[in-house]
Amino acid sequence: MPFARWDCAGRLVSHPSATMMMMRMMLMQPLKHALGAAGRPLSWAARSELRSRVSAWGLDAGPHPAKGEQKEGLEGFSARLATGPTLQHFLRNTAPPLEAGRQVTEEPEEPVPYLTSSAPGEARRKVYLETYGCQMNVNDTEIAWAILQKNGYLRTNRLGEADVILLVTCSIREKAEQAIWNRLQHLTALKSKRLRTQAPLRIGILGCMAERLREEILHREKLVDIVAGPDAYRDLPRLLAVAESGQQAANVLLSLDETYADVLPVQTSPNATSAFVSITRGCDNMCSYCIVPFTRGRERSRPLASILQEVKMLSDQGVKEVTLLGQNVNSFRDTSEVQFRAAAAPGLSRGFSTIYKAKEGGLRFAHLLDQASRVDPEIRIRFTSPHPKDFPDELLQLIQERHNICNQLHLPAQSGSTRVLEAMRRGYTRETYLALIQHVRDSIPGVSLSSDFIAGFCGETEDDHQQTVSLLREVRYNTGFLFAYSMRQKTRAYHRLQDDVPAEVKHRRLEELISVFREEASRANGAMLGRSQLVLVEGPSKRSATELCGRNDGNLRVVFPDVEMEDGTGSGAVARAQPGDYVLVKITSASSQTLKGVLLRCTSLRESAACR
Ligand code: 5AD
Ligand code: SF4
Repeated sequence: MPFARWDCAGRLVSHPSATMMMMRMMLMQPLKHALGAAGRPLSWAARSELRSRVSAWGLDAGPHPAKGEQKEGLEGFSARLATGPTLQHFLRNTAPPLEAGRQVTEEPEEPVPYLTSSAPGEARRKVYLETYGCQMNVNDTEIAWAILQKNGYLRTNRLGEADVILLVTCSIREKAEQAIWNRLQHLTALKSKRLRTQAPLRIGILGCMAERLREEILHREKLVDIVAGPDAYRDLPRLLAVAESGQQAANVLLSLDETYADVLPVQTSPNATSAFVSITRGCDNMCSYCIVPFTRGRERSRPLASILQEVKMLSDQGVKEVTLLGQNVNSFRDTSEVQFRAAAAPGLSRGFSTIYKAKEGGLRFAHLLDQASRVDPEIRIRFTSPHPKDFPDELLQLIQERHNICNQLHLPAQSGSTRVLEAMRRGYTRETYLALIQHVRDSIPGVSLSSDFIAGFCGETEDDHQQTVSLLREVRYNTGFLFAYSMRQKTRAYHRLQDDVPAEVKHRRLEELISVFREEASRANGAMLGRSQLVLVEGPSKRSATELCGRNDGNLRVVFPDVEMEDGTGSGAVARAQPGDYVLVKITSASSQTLKGVLLRCTSLRESAACR
């Protein structure tokens, strides 16, 4: 199918017909002059905007017109050109990024006539969003929804009543993608059963899989109407408008600076005690097995001021726990404030290296964490996912000192073998990783640790695998995320290494890692028996209506009976624990995943810190 688009470098990657090409050239000329007249060269953003506007008019989407339809197509094109965007539309969308310190405000937006999702008097379209993969995708779903809501869409949680179905997808392992292909089969069947009296159902693929497999999705799943990469969510209303005219529409351009800083995500559960705040996007680490740098693009940080504003807003809504989110949270580097551009780079964790040159300047993660934890002393702060290379001493010291920063660190090791770590391009050896663990434990006594591991990476021998087993035993993590290696196209491993560990060996090794991890985690968590834990109450336990569930400082699930307790005022009054309360629970049993205990009393973060 002739579906013309450009790649990130601005190259045309597939061809429309010659007629279409001519139309594009006719169209580009006056626009080029118009932008030139505005007195500045075309920025990257302006160029991509220009391209997407061109495709918004349907020039390069959808099938070629049949011979007889061609004249009508040209007339239609002229009519669309007459009502198309003006110079103002281009300029508004190419404004410079927000300066830090500036209040993020809702810009009064002029309605864009060619982008309206429903005509006046028409019923508003209902959108159903489905999320796959990591917490970043949950956050992206909220961003996509915030953008659509502002453009007049309604949300539904019933698939059957949706006019638009959007899947926010994950590409990290093949299994994740397979689940989405299967789901698409089901959804396209739903689409074809739609009654003629109803407006057609539109289906969109968003996120990492859209970025990775845009061609394949559009060709293989002809009933997919839109494909939008992780940096293209602002473009969703336009893509949907194109789709409404019966054409496929795609935008998979990656950005160097998109952080959606001004899009405050709409919290899906309004009474939630916890929320996630996105602080970085993309990744520059290029671990040899990982698709993320290719699907989510270059690492960039959201301006500090907009992060703090979101934390403040969550505090005003009564949220009690904020997790700072990103592919590489602790590489945070906000360069939006001029006075910090020349600041020296903090050191890496001792003995660690990166594949890229040290990045100088900008406000760093320790500064952000310090500021975020000062917004509300009753809000707990966590962060995920960090890279072990970015733990300078001042960061560890801040975590240890500040009462509302959780003493919990995720330190993804991936393997216990130096040889495999080198092949993975992780930038550390087994020894430097273990030295970091020791340093972290010395700096933050009682810290709770978690990690990610991959079983059966290219060239992994039985001896390498045993080294991972021994690392798991030595560190004794509280929580673990373990995966079988899944070869991903585009990655360095795909091009340079052999996926030579047979599937059954990968799975046997994975099972072994899981069982060793569980054994050690039960021991680590068993150390909490008889001790009291500060728990943020989330709500009723899933297993029993007479029990409540929450999380301790180390992010472990804690289950306890829903009974009356001292209300914490010291007056002797009693109360029932509510979601959002901090309570003390004495631990009576521990497994690798859950702690159980008895409720002692209500407390606050500050009070419990004072008693530590
Ligand atoms: N195969 C298996 N696991 C992977 N991860 C990333 N890429 C792959 C892959 N190709 C795991 C890593 C990472 C986590 C988010 O997913 O352990 O830390
Ligand atoms: Fe992937 Fe490595 Fe970046 Fe994590 S740090 S997202 S594993 S490339």
